Amino acid sequence: MCGIVGYIGPRPMGEILLPGLARLEYRGYDSAGLALHQGDKLTVSKRAGRIADLAEQLADLDTGGHLGIGHTRWATHGAPNGTNAHPHTDCTGDVAAVHNGIIENWAELKRELIGRGHEFTSDTDTEVVGHLIEEMADVPLDEAVRRVMQSAQGALALAVIRRSDPEMIVAARRHSPLVVGRGEGEMFVASDIPAFLEHTRNMIVIDDDRVVAITADGATITNLEGEEIPAVERTIEWDLDAAEKGGYESFMLKEIHEQPQAIADTLRGRIDESGRVRLHELELDDRLLRAIDKVFVIACGTSYHAAMMAKYAIERWTRIPVEIDIASEFRYRDPVVDPRTLVIGISQSGETLDTLAAVRYAAAQGATLLGVTNVVDSALARESDAVLYTRAGPEIGVAATKTFTTQLVAMQLLGLYLAQVRASMDPGAIEYHIRQLNELPVAVSQVVGSSDEIKKMTERWADVRDFFFLGRSGDFPVAMEGALKLKEIAYVRAEGFAAGEMKHGPIALIEDGVVVIGVATDTHVKAKTLSNMAEMAARGGEMVILREEGDDGTDFADHVITLPEGPDLICTVTAVVPLQLLAYHVANAKGLDVDKPRNLAKTVTVE
Ligand code: G6P
Repeated sequence: MCGIVGYIGPRPMGEILLPGLARLEYRGYDSAGLALHQGDKLTVSKRAGRIADLAEQLADLDTGGHLGIGHTRWATHGAPNGTNAHPHTDCTGDVAAVHNGIIENWAELKRELIGRGHEFTSDTDTEVVGHLIEEMADVPLDEAVRRVMQSAQGALALAVIRRSDPEMIVAARRHSPLVVGRGEGEMFVASDIPAFLEHTRNMIVIDDDRVVAITADGATITNLEGEEIPAVERTIEWDLDAAEKGGYESFMLKEIHEQPQAIADTLRGRIDESGRVRLHELELDDRLLRAIDKVFVIACGTSYHAAMMAKYAIERWTRIPVEIDIASEFRYRDPVVDPRTLVIGISQSGETLDTLAAVRYAAAQGATLLGVTNVVDSALARESDAVLYTRAGPEIGVAATKTFTTQLVAMQLLGLYLAQVRASMDPGAIEYHIRQLNELPVAVSQVVGSSDEIKKMTERWADVRDFFFLGRSGDFPVAMEGALKLKEIAYVRAEGFAAGEMKHGPIALIEDGVVVIGVATDTHVKAKTLSNMAEMAARGGEMVILREEGDDGTDFADHVITLPEGPDLICTVTAVVPLQLLAYHVANAKGLDVDKPRNLAKTVTVE
């Protein structure tokens, strides 16, 4: 996720573009830049850091001009430094482009461009755009961008300017958001409405595979064949606060709704046409991956629940023994680690001190270190031998939602990749699971759509004091995460247990007034989970069951939440979502600030 903004009109560019970018910082904030069309030249200014740092750098410089584009970055390819900051130019400096998304075939395009003599200065996928347009100096800019859109695969929201076109910004969209704002003799383009809401409320949403040529007087939209598409203009009713949250009441709710996109982004480019997992980015030798005889997965908080899931996935699919550890415990129990051990550290921030200290300890024993994080070039990424990035974009809500579901997806991709490399699973079964992973964005959006139903279910729960979340096998980490979400944002005592363990003690706590939520998706054990739940139903309490479409045996339940059918483990990604919504609605009913829960920090950098 990144933010892009463009302006064409009479006002000083800096005064429009910099505040516009600041409004988009929720989309990324590791580096930023502007490209301005100033008379006979394009001026590019960019740097690592936040928009305020860029504004400081530009304070004494001329930020006037005919038109300009800007970018605030959340790195996906290349470290977050000044060189990789956008805009990116061609060899001549005549073309400047900003991009939000991932160009999947960038390496191939870059290779071809280098073969034709182009020189690259950054490690980004985006830089190919400027060089491709450089080769089309005689082609109108909108047509050049259409051709780029035809040759680039993946997700692209682009805004491009060219020295020889002092009156036009050309933007394009595929799978990444893009909106155009129309003012009086001025036009805007941006990833999201807040970038220009203080200047105009007239907006045009750009659809996928559309190119829009913007002048000070209007916008012309075409499809990739160059046929004109009528623009549909709308008036924005939201105020700025609502617009920054995409119209949702909170960042957390917005981020819950962003999960289908975040999962699609995490999968993008990692499954090839033949249906195999492709993780070239890992740069770990297949021989090394075949030689591993033990895996440790280490993490804290929500990320630890992703570690639990990773254990089920890797053991089930590869037969390699997996141990999981809470990071703050790992070092102090003298774990047995050696050069044939793969240690996987999971941390959305990549900066959690407990996790860093644990993986450093393992690395010192000679283990191979794989970092799984959402932040490019974070400490975990830098210190690992290999990195697998989740691509959830920045998460503002303190309680992890989209970073967790993308961690689950990343760990499942990794499990299937290891199964492929080690030939530990029938190729047909691998292919089936991969196909199902690809279905997850649709399945998750279906579940996100049940928010009102879940809200209704939780209406009378604002005063409930005790919640139990139960599951077995792959459903167990889901139950643990459901309980943690409720604790974190609703301040209620909520316990996650392995369903079969209840009878060994905790069942004594079940009485009227207690809510018990059972997750029953894993084929091997769901009948057992349901019978554990039935035992509890007989002792009072309100029973909620999460089960897949077509399943039965839940007559004793007070509420049933139905999930789209899916294979074991993969289905649990959808099961997490109703529990996030459940926690959200309970906290909301109690009037709590879900984005900033008390006593918590998004990233904990102390032991
Ligand atoms: C903090 C946050 C949790 C998070 C944990 C691990 O405690 O409040 O929500 O799960 O850190 O964070 P990480 O960035 O390592 O995933």
